[in-house]
Amino acid sequence: MAVAEFLYSACSITATASTDRHCSSSSFLPSKAYRLLKYHPPGLQLTSSPRRQQAFKLVCSAAPQQVEAPAPAASAAVSPSLNGKPKLESSECYGVFCLHYDFKTDGETRAWKKLIKVAVSGAAGMISNHLLFKIASGEVFGQDQPVALRLLGSERSFRALEGVAMELEDSLFPLLREVSVGIDPYEVFKDAEWALLIGAKPRGPGMERGDLLDINGKIFAKQGRALNAVASRNVKVIVVGNPCNTNTLICLKNAPNIPAKNFHALTRLDENRAKCQLALKAGVFYDKVSNMTIWGNHSTTQVPDFLNARILGLPVKEVITDTQWLEHEFTQKVQKRGGELIKKWGRSSAASTAVSIVDAIRSLVFPTPEGDWFSSAVYTNGNPYGIADDIVFSMPCRSKGNGDYELVEDVIIDDFLRQRIKKSEAELLAEKKCVAHLTGDIFRFKKCNLNGNGYCDLPGDTMLPGEQ
Ligand code: LMR
Repeated sequence: MAVAEFLYSACSITATASTDRHCSSSSFLPSKAYRLLKYHPPGLQLTSSPRRQQAFKLVCSAAPQQVEAPAPAASAAVSPSLNGKPKLESSECYGVFCLHYDFKTDGETRAWKKLIKVAVSGAAGMISNHLLFKIASGEVFGQDQPVALRLLGSERSFRALEGVAMELEDSLFPLLREVSVGIDPYEVFKDAEWALLIGAKPRGPGMERGDLLDINGKIFAKQGRALNAVASRNVKVIVVGNPCNTNTLICLKNAPNIPAKNFHALTRLDENRAKCQLALKAGVFYDKVSNMTIWGNHSTTQVPDFLNARILGLPVKEVITDTQWLEHEFTQKVQKRGGELIKKWGRSSAASTAVSIVDAIRSLVFPTPEGDWFSSAVYTNGNPYGIADDIVFSMPCRSKGNGDYELVEDVIIDDFLRQRIKKSEAELLAEKKCVAHLTGDIFRFKKCNLNGNGYCDLPGDTMLPGEQ
């Protein structure tokens, strides 16, 4: 047990100081205002105006003896923005997570590892809604790993973000020691050791793929700069927002002080989909499928590799002899699974994406089983497969469980596989040209499209998995 410290006493501040900046009656209610009100202990009266007292119901969830020392007032949480709406400036601890616990006094927690800080963008979205609870439960980093969650949302999604934080509070996860919410990546990513970049704009009707690359690319350029400025120098970054390979490239190019090797685009969902399809065809449970590589882009050019994959330890082609199925049906099924799912659900995959993010992280923090590997889209410089440098390409990786990975060298690449890898490579090289204005390559390509934004000529027959 041990609630030892209540760092920022709502009561002392609301009772003694003007709360004008914190207690707005606007419908946009920033986290600090919520927290201040929520932790108003019994016996202390608000000094804010009657109008404010009317606006919010006061609820106390911290007993007075839990309040140890009021910390100095934090820097302004809210300031007026140009459109007159309050604007959240900093990421703030949320609710019960503003209490600090003394791990050392508690026998059960003494053996725990040092707290890790995990930042998640798009935190109010569907994928995060599955993922955050898995992280908080210990399922991802282990049962001895306490976590701090830093949730990044937008002004538009901020109230939903508070809803997520409330549900995390109500779940009583022992390992979840801090939650903060904010809309500024420079605040939210501070000291982050993991950054899970999920938030991105989905492609809307009539939107050109090049436009999507530009819109989302700008988000990832900004987030890359923020990571570069404030995150841990060894932060591990997993980009989920589409088009994730090129978003990752943009992100890493904007974060030159963080090793490029630390950036991943999520293709683990594609790997999981491929394993499932092979298992189904072979009539075995999916844990019998191993060595599954997804090569290339998280798009319909991705290459699920049945040449190197194994079923029950045997090459797939010895177990599934239907080459026609492998080369066509299997491949297309995996490539288009995301789109098929959207047709059923009316929205992108969320739960299975969250599961695959868990798998991707666990593949880096736990050693890869002997002889096996996993897929992740990583920076290509120095790859042993002859894939062009300076793109983010899904390849087979192994990890010792230290957060790092090595590319697997002993894979076979025949002409059929090589040809398809080249198609995905060509697509990524074309995407890269479209975002040259965001990666600093604009001068290298020396060609401009109508916007002056680099030369963008994408192959017409390729799509994101969800774009069919
Ligand atoms: C998926 O593979 O399920 C998603 O990336 C699909 C999409 O385009 O949102």
